Amino acid sequence: FRTLDKLSPQGQRILLRADLNVPVKDGRITDRTRIERLTPTIRELAEKGGRVIVCSHFDRPKGKRVPEMSLRPMAEALAEALGTPVTFVEDCVGPEAEAAAAAMRDGDVILLENTRFQAGEEKNDPELAKGLARLADAYVNDAFSAAHRAHASTEGVARLLPAYAGRLMQAELEALDAALGSPSRPVVAIVGGAKVSTKLDLLGNLTKKVDVLVIGGAMANTFLAAQGHAVGKSLQEAEMHDTARAILEEAKGNNCEILLPLDLVVAATFAANVPTRTVGIDNVPSEMMALDVGPDTVSAIEGRLRQASTLVWNGPLGAFETPPFDTATVSVAQSVAALTQSAGLKSIAGGGDTVAALKHAGVAERLTYVSAAGGAFLEWLEGKTLPGVAALEG
Ligand code: 3PG
Repeated sequence: FRTLDKLSPQGQRILLRADLNVPVKDGRITDRTRIERLTPTIRELAEKGGRVIVCSHFDRPKGKRVPEMSLRPMAEALAEALGTPVTFVEDCVGPEAEAAAAAMRDGDVILLENTRFQAGEEKNDPELAKGLARLADAYVNDAFSAAHRAHASTEGVARLLPAYAGRLMQAELEALDAALGSPSRPVVAIVGGAKVSTKLDLLGNLTKKVDVLVIGGAMANTFLAAQGHAVGKSLQEAEMHDTARAILEEAKGNNCEILLPLDLVVAATFAANVPTRTVGIDNVPSEMMALDVGPDTVSAIEGRLRQASTLVWNGPLGAFETPPFDTATVSVAQSVAALTQSAGLKSIAGGGDTVAALKHAGVAERLTYVSAAGGAFLEWLEGKTLPGVAALEG
């Protein structure tokens, strides 16, 4: 892909696809990470005399103009982050958008209304892509986190204008390549979360690519049950036992060690600060459920991490939102941060829950790279081609 090093922004109108799909509660932005990580690209383009036309989707309005899903509040947030004015335009294509783009001066930044207000966006309608392309001389995609969608603003328009990867897109792709593309070995992956069924493709791809695959979270219960361990009232997917056994076999064939929990923290009910017990995997009481992995498992994970050169992490080890079931996740997160800082471990993490868990552990800043993407990060780890990335290459 071409980076911004290949683009001369001076006097050019540049359509910048951003991902301003930020978390909002009661009309207020609750996490500005995506906005902050977008600003280097905007700043670079504007400082070099580019006319920056930012576009993005927000939420899922399904082709309708839903007032609560307007990007207008993001213009203010973007202006604050940049320290320069950002003009909001109430459409992303059509006469108003075209007039606004035509009136821009070098270094100006404007923000277009939600691309998903257009029915053609999610259909990747060529007419919408053409409408977007009419606004600009070049296209920059800085929305890695939306690159798993083949939409008009992420894919279609990229084929109509000279297309470049923005600095955030570039950083994401470089980090992922360091994680799984051409990583230094051994590579350890930690995968957690509730269900095997939603992470099947991920587990399948990782057993081919990594040296050690740590499985935690409730999905580990499914593996333990498939191996014949009684898991009591733990969350598990009984219909996935055959699949789980097949994954274990496949891993063996690929020389990938799978590390399942050695001990578990169990409780009778799932609530904050309820009484807990730590038990071996063969001693889960029938009326209790596993909600975290235990200290022996944490030691085993940390042992593998000390040997590792690269770590990829997606999914918490336990029900980390509800203490004390955050214990294992926090402890492993702290070890990852320490090994990254002092032993040269390359640590790459991503996914909404994972980032929340790392923030909760207070170490998100101390990993090598934390992806701003959720679904796109997962699809990349699954080995899928992301349409928004492919369009920059093709
Ligand atoms: C995300 O938040 O993961 C991206 O912005 C994609 O959003 P979507 O799942 O609504 O396509």
